[in-house]
Amino acid sequence: MKTYYIKTFGCQMNVADSNLMQAHFESLGMVQAKDLSDADTVVVNTCTVRDHAEHTAMSYVGRLKPFKNDNPNLKVILAGCAAQRVGENIKKRFPIIDLVVGAKNIENFKKEFNKICELDSCFRGNDNKRAGDDSRHGKNEGKNRGKGNVCDFVTIMRGCENFCSYCIVPSVRGPELSRPFDEILSEIETRVKLGAKDITLLGQNVNSYRGADKHGKKQDFASLLTKVNSVKGLDRIRFMTSHPKDLGQKLIKTIAGLEKVCEHIHLPLQSGSDRILKAMNRNYKTSDYLKIIDTIRKEMPAAAITTDIMVGFPGETKKDFEKTLAVTDRASYDFIFAFKYSPRPGTKAAELKDSVSLKTKEGRHAILLEKLNKAAENLNRKLIGSAQEVLVEGAADGKYFGKTRTNKKVYFSSGRIKPGSLVKVKILQAKFNSLIGEKNA
Ligand code: 5AD
Ligand code: SF4
Repeated sequence: MKTYYIKTFGCQMNVADSNLMQAHFESLGMVQAKDLSDADTVVVNTCTVRDHAEHTAMSYVGRLKPFKNDNPNLKVILAGCAAQRVGENIKKRFPIIDLVVGAKNIENFKKEFNKICELDSCFRGNDNKRAGDDSRHGKNEGKNRGKGNVCDFVTIMRGCENFCSYCIVPSVRGPELSRPFDEILSEIETRVKLGAKDITLLGQNVNSYRGADKHGKKQDFASLLTKVNSVKGLDRIRFMTSHPKDLGQKLIKTIAGLEKVCEHIHLPLQSGSDRILKAMNRNYKTSDYLKIIDTIRKEMPAAAITTDIMVGFPGETKKDFEKTLAVTDRASYDFIFAFKYSPRPGTKAAELKDSVSLKTKEGRHAILLEKLNKAAENLNRKLIGSAQEVLVEGAADGKYFGKTRTNKKVYFSSGRIKPGSLVKVKILQAKFNSLIGEKNA
């Protein structure tokens, strides 16, 4: 039996794309390899959002050379956003690569993979019937992915056309395209039948979802959430990522009113300085952002709010950074994903001088992280003694683990329980990024 091994770098969109590729391998009768040395096909699904991310993925490709030397039939596939950026040219640097499938071209993965497999007699006789499927999303997206996961991801839209000045995503993933409404629902129903209890709706900018239903009528994100909320057997709904310019009062009220939609909003701030936000082409001011935070706090008092913040954008002064710190205090985040600005080829910001030194970027990054760790631990400590609803995902090192509705990881002791169960856990200890407890009797 032929085996595959997928190494995924980057965001949840890449994880979802890896799931698509996995579905195709399994439809061909291939099985997951235990490790790299056991694989007949290796996919490296890459990220290019920052230079460091691309570098990490490419170093991984470099380390595959001895495996190809040992097994010249090994197929090496470069997929994802960095693959889109570098294109076929990368084969000059890494001749071991058999196939490059960029993020925009993921829908053609089946066709492209089948092409390289036709050269290999071992693959003949497998089911290649789906080779010609070429819609931008792929008609059976996610449908034939083998066993179910308790927490699963469903892509609702691809691409982005916000053109934040620092961001390479619009160029490597292409313009925004929403998946048809009923196709998303039917995929969710399938995933739930396979055991999913917690589904995250994925897209670069989910609030601007507008997909046609089977009557050709455009539906928005609020109607999608409302419909998903009625899927039987599903316990929890999440979504990622929201853009502050599209998260209006009405949508927040809808979210707050749907019982399966979890109390967690990820709302990238990027910067707390209006001058920098303008240069980033974010289309909101700090005051608009804070109004949204206030509405969330009013409509969903239990909500956890997380964010992305970038330090060292061209021209960011100490004063700008202090404004960012002030907004983080005011917003009281449960978690901050902090990044150092990295110029990306072809973006507007790359035309500006990368004026903030690496040392200053690192210093600001460290200040932000220290602040986050303290603030997150303080918020988590408030949960000590409370009983939290946890969806059990699995067990490791003698403890069960799962997440709260607010997306906090919980490790807890308990008698035998099945993954997929909802249990009440008494919180006994808090760290900045996890909680520790015991299942209530
Ligand atoms: N440099 C640093 N961080 C970036 N991000 C996007 N582009 C860049 C870049 N060029 C960050 C943003 C985004 C997150 C996914 O990655 O904060 O929200
Ligand atoms: Fe990039 Fe901005 Fe689109 Fe997010 S919204 S993917 S940061 S361009």
